Amino acid sequence: MNLNRRDFLGLAAGGAGTIVATSALPAFGKDDPSLFPKRGVVERLAIAYHHIHIGLPQPFSVLHISDTHLTAVYDDEPEYLVTFAKKRSKTFGGRQEEALRDSLAWARMNVDYVIHTGDLIDFQTRANLDIVKKVFGEEKALVGSMGNHEFQRRIPGEKVDESSIATLRQYGALSMKLLAETFPFDISLQSTVIKGVNFVTMNQVCGFVTEKHVERFRAEVRKGLPIILCMHCPFFTEELVRASRKYWQFNRKFAHDNAGPMCSWQWKDPVTRDFIACLKSEPLLKGILTGHMHLTASDRFSPTAMQYIVGGNFMFHGEEILFT
Ligand SMILES: [Fe+2]
Repeated sequence: MNLNRRDFLGLAAGGAGTIVATSALPAFGKDDPSLFPKRGVVERLAIAYHHIHIGLPQPFSVLHISDTHLTAVYDDEPEYLVTFAKKRSKTFGGRQEEALRDSLAWARMNVDYVIHTGDLIDFQTRANLDIVKKVFGEEKALVGSMGNHEFQRRIPGEKVDESSIATLRQYGALSMKLLAETFPFDISLQSTVIKGVNFVTMNQVCGFVTEKHVERFRAEVRKGLPIILCMHCPFFTEELVRASRKYWQFNRKFAHDNAGPMCSWQWKDPVTRDFIACLKSEPLLKGILTGHMHLTASDRFSPTAMQYIVGGNFMFHGEEILFT
């Protein structure tokens, strides 16, 4: 897929406008002036800034967002989904559609493209999936990747053993058809070339890579273009695990921390471990964009690539990345 700025601008303006005008959809982007009332909507965003130097003839910039966690639901959807949506809406602040709308508005004014690295929805409802279709558009595409929450079905009694890779993959497979029909890109791996840079979005929602992904990624390397790998879960390092624990568990001092078990999930899976090792020596890899942690962090991944983790879009977070 080759994306140009006109595609994005047309989609962002047309998509958002359509959403606002469609009464059958939830009230996308309803504004609540109680959040920083004296600031304009785009001034409420928390935008971090990064720079990736590649040596491009023409610079451009992108807005990277992740983890919007939409919790929209129609009244006529099953009661358990309506109840769950109310609970999760409180968890994520209830302003996720507003945050997404404002982020896209900011992007139209300030950058050339938008990359969303997953968890756009919190769980599958018709209303959430309708918003996804509207935001991404039927034919034109923003750059996007799956998050683990795109696969959340929340069917009563359907328990998932998150300690089993095989079970997680089986659970993920149940949603593949629905998600492939909803998102207008290849949800397994998508290449989008922007001004000579190959943005490769990869679905590794549980933090693991399959042999098929490795094979397809190698084909991308053979194109010879600089690569930005976009995916939901970061490749964990001890530093990122510590940062994550600070966010999710309060009152934790550095000296008490042990990053071992969480990292070992990825490190013990041989395909993922070997893929990470190969990537670290891949000179075409110029950066990795991820989310999942709901906090903003960065860490060196390889001699040629930093890994950037962006904070939750549900908290109005995003990051602009300048490519030169
Ligand atoms: Fe998330």
